[in-house]
Amino acid sequence: MLVYLNGEYLPAAEARVSVDDRGFLFADGLYEVVRIYAGQPYELEEHLQRLLAGANALQIEYHDVRALEPICRRLIEENGVSGNGIVYIQVTRGAALRKHHFPPKGTQATVYVAAKPHTGYPSHLWEDGATAITMPDNRWARCDIKSISLLPNIMANEAAMAAETFEAVLVRDGVVTEGSHSNVWGVRDGRLITYPASNYILAGITRATVFRLAGELGIPASEGLILAHELYDLDEVFLSGTTVEIMPIVAVDGRMIVDGEPGPITRRLLKTFRNSLPR
Ligand code: PDD
Repeated sequence: MLVYLNGEYLPAAEARVSVDDRGFLFADGLYEVVRIYAGQPYELEEHLQRLLAGANALQIEYHDVRALEPICRRLIEENGVSGNGIVYIQVTRGAALRKHHFPPKGTQATVYVAAKPHTGYPSHLWEDGATAITMPDNRWARCDIKSISLLPNIMANEAAMAAETFEAVLVRDGVVTEGSHSNVWGVRDGRLITYPASNYILAGITRATVFRLAGELGIPASEGLILAHELYDLDEVFLSGTTVEIMPIVAVDGRMIVDGEPGPITRRLLKTFRNSLPR
């Protein structure tokens, strides 16, 4: 499997990053996960723009995100990803003497890109729905930046796995924000609700796609608050994200959502989403 690292294409096993890399020492970096459908990167431009916004917010000296497009395409091609796959992009502030403040101007950002086939999660999660638990959202207050610093997400997701569920639904001040690696949606009286795009969530690319699809289908959708204690009484709950796509959640904290079956609006959105994908 070929990867791209700092200007070079090389076998993954030969790729080396410095132990002084700020990504390694401080988790001082950004990442993107892009889906490949039918050998094509999906919504790549949106992912690159979010990466650029993150680099600007963190003042990481990396601006030429456009240069990543041919890199992604070459890796897809050379690695023979003709069906479904994943592109992983990571940009860190580079390697430098370990100081908390920024390294000297001109320190080269570390740029890593990989593209590989991806079969995804088992299909029963979409057909029968997945389960979740709620967990405290104890992340920092810049969740809009797709930082590689993911410890709170990792701890919450591990708790979900230990509870034999799929996702941790994060709760801040009694309000559902998002999942450990997805956005969370509720359906109430026929209307979709999801946490407002703000510093407390990652504004998912798939989240934007759900708003677009809902518009096309004439399903009312708005940003709004879901209180944690109201979660169990919603008509439907689902996740959105690059890897989860649109995934029904049928039980939270061991309590069934309605009858424990994927809801009709979630099913409709998922079907429309899948039908819209390149094939
Ligand atoms: N995660 N919220 C969080 C905290 C996420 O980590 C993700 C995606 C999303 C959904 O964003 P998008 O629709 O742009 O994928 C929301 C990726 C897939 C990951 O960490 O693997």
